[in-house]
Amino acid sequence: MRVVLAPMEGVLDHLMRDLLTKVGGYDLCVTEFVRVVDQVISDRAYFRSCPELKNASVYGCTTEAGTPVRVQLLGQHPTCMADNAAKVIELGSQGIDINFGCPAKMVNKNRGGAILLKDPENLYQIIKAVKESVPKETIVSAKIRLGYEDKSLAIENAQAVEAAGANELTVHARTKLEGYKPPAHWQWIAKINQQVNIPVIANGDIFTLSDARKCREVSTCNDIMVGRGALMLPNLAQVIKQTAEELPWSEVQKLLLNYTRCETYGDKSKYYPNRIKQWLKYLKLQYSEAAELFQEVRTLKTAQDIIATL
Ligand SMILES: Cc1cc2nc3c(=O)[nH]c(=O)nc-3n(C[C@H](O)[C@H](O)[C@H](O)COP(=O)(O)O)c2cc1C
Repeated sequence: MRVVLAPMEGVLDHLMRDLLTKVGGYDLCVTEFVRVVDQVISDRAYFRSCPELKNASVYGCTTEAGTPVRVQLLGQHPTCMADNAAKVIELGSQGIDINFGCPAKMVNKNRGGAILLKDPENLYQIIKAVKESVPKETIVSAKIRLGYEDKSLAIENAQAVEAAGANELTVHARTKLEGYKPPAHWQWIAKINQQVNIPVIANGDIFTLSDARKCREVSTCNDIMVGRGALMLPNLAQVIKQTAEELPWSEVQKLLLNYTRCETYGDKSKYYPNRIKQWLKYLKLQYSEAAELFQEVRTLKTAQDIIATL
């Protein structure tokens, strides 16, 4: 079984990837999406989203713990996506993941993300162009939802992903319209898994060992992807693999202090205050101590004040 750490824009940055993969159990990380519009994005912008690329020529694109990192692209123009994919692979990314699931209004208005699920041909053309632009052995994966408004094209979309040459498919088991509303429809992943021959990674609402077991059973998938669950319980992957008990709060506190490293983004930067508060919002769903801490830091604005409270 592989446990993949989900891409989560605004929350799961390289510091969080570093932290969580050091805790252990995660087999692959996918970056927050990089928006491709109509040009090839600069090295600098790619290094910002995926600093792991900087050492890729020496260590491969991995976190310090050695977990592979794959860059995720989001865009609608096949040629431009292909040019960017070629560049990202040259920079050293461990494959390319393509986002067909983003529900954000702005992204969908510009015809990126989940809106592309309205026509399987969109997926086919983008993946085919990307696949043709990178060396044959490059892993190209796609991440889809079950559809935009309804699930009527779920199978066709998955088949288009496979026909275009993708090597892997992750399915977040909801439509765009369903947002993040529970439940995730794992049985739909099973229907998809039955119709395609590439590995399918099941995603959505896996927060515990029991969820993981049930999801794998219902979806018939070996591999799973976890997002919010990993932010709630940092060693969720180990718990799922039954190699460790749930991390005690004292260990989570150490991780929170470790995350203060991103405070180096500058005194005036909102980066650290925003991100640590985001993380605490997830942690408090698992740890009552995190709820107390969140109350204490909620109104604090500077990194220094938050760090002093930690
Ligand atoms: C705040 C947030 C940001 C996300 N950003 C991305 C993203 O950049 N790319 C992507 O493919 N999915 C993104 N997702 C979706 C997650 O990767 C995942 O599919 C979803 O949260 C369901 O999995 P989970 O129940 O394990 O969290 C995001 C989800 C959340 C809540």
